[in-house]
Amino acid sequence: KFEGLALSPPMGWNSWNTFGCDIDEGLIKTIADKMVASGMRDAGYQYINIDDCWHGERDENGFIQADKTRFPSGIKALADYVHSKGLKLGIYSDAGNKTCGGRPGSNGHEYQDAIQYARWGIDYLKYDWCNTENLSAPGAYRTMRDALAAAGRPVVLSICEWGDNKPWLWGKEMGHLWRTTGDIINCWDCEVDHGSWSSWGILRILDMQDGLRQYAGPDHWNDPDMMEVGNGMSEHEDRAHFSIWAMLAAPLIAGNDLRSMSKSTQKILTHSEVIAVNQDALGVQAFKYKTQNDVEIWFKPLQDKQWAMMILNRGDKKAGVSFDWRNENVVDPDFPGNGQFYTAGFANSRYKIFDLWANKSAGTTKSSLRVSVEPHAVKLYRLEKITS
Ligand code: DGJ
Repeated sequence: KFEGLALSPPMGWNSWNTFGCDIDEGLIKTIADKMVASGMRDAGYQYINIDDCWHGERDENGFIQADKTRFPSGIKALADYVHSKGLKLGIYSDAGNKTCGGRPGSNGHEYQDAIQYARWGIDYLKYDWCNTENLSAPGAYRTMRDALAAAGRPVVLSICEWGDNKPWLWGKEMGHLWRTTGDIINCWDCEVDHGSWSSWGILRILDMQDGLRQYAGPDHWNDPDMMEVGNGMSEHEDRAHFSIWAMLAAPLIAGNDLRSMSKSTQKILTHSEVIAVNQDALGVQAFKYKTQNDVEIWFKPLQDKQWAMMILNRGDKKAGVSFDWRNENVVDPDFPGNGQFYTAGFANSRYKIFDLWANKSAGTTKSSLRVSVEPHAVKLYRLEKITS
């Protein structure tokens, strides 16, 4: 794979969660404009990703073409436009014979497709796993990785495969991120049954990340799916969703309609301190430290011996939480960073506390933390060690 393209989790936007198959070049251009105007580009969002259903037919030589009515100017022109805004363009294909939406898949055309993407100026490929009977997942993703390498243009490879094939066990070699779950949906805690498959709310997706954190790190991330921020949940829920994705070092791929987003959605998506937790150079995912009834306390080691801390209230009632630092032994259970597990050592060291969503400092770890957390909400803190 092209090394070093995703040293921190990729950030961008994708068409699927809001638009499904209803996409065209006008929409993608407007989204690129909005990425700039909303401040999202400057906050770090880079990729504009076209999901399923952009495809037309293959030409007489087998090269894939865009749908001529929806993308009359072609993908190259669109890429030029997106690049002119200081952004990058992503596209979608499938390892099987057809995409999930029934468009031409890349099976047997991998090298040709990679050449076509390189000609167009594509920077990111989400590669799906529908209609892949009799294919080996590691094999199919290896083929596409090698095809992209042969075509020569650096492309982030997003492995859209999960479940029985456990992409976290082999994905690091093939791509830069891999899905860890089925599709997300815009609810706090629900499962929506679509017949042969289900989609999952925020808490369900969170619970499915159990046991996977040791597989992720710089250039190889767990992907709990694209975000539903701004797609209909409450402000508290959206903030919690964004905080959870930040703590999980998840790719931050927005999935809302940027043309009509509210001020509150925009503020959540561009919160620089929360984004900094996600993008931290250590690249270590948070771990669940403690559960008390509906409340979970999570810690994420950050560079320079800092920590992020999230208090998540999953429940329907306000929760009072108290945390007596001196009696808490926060040690990373999985990561022996340089032979030493990340250890907070609150008994011996003192930290300054910053409340990230409130944008203010919140004292130090000298005295216990006492807070009340609204239902379906989080408190998110950054802890900075006091050295003198
Ligand atoms: C399944 C994926 O999980 C979704 O994110 C989306 O890409 C659809 N396929 C498109 O058909």
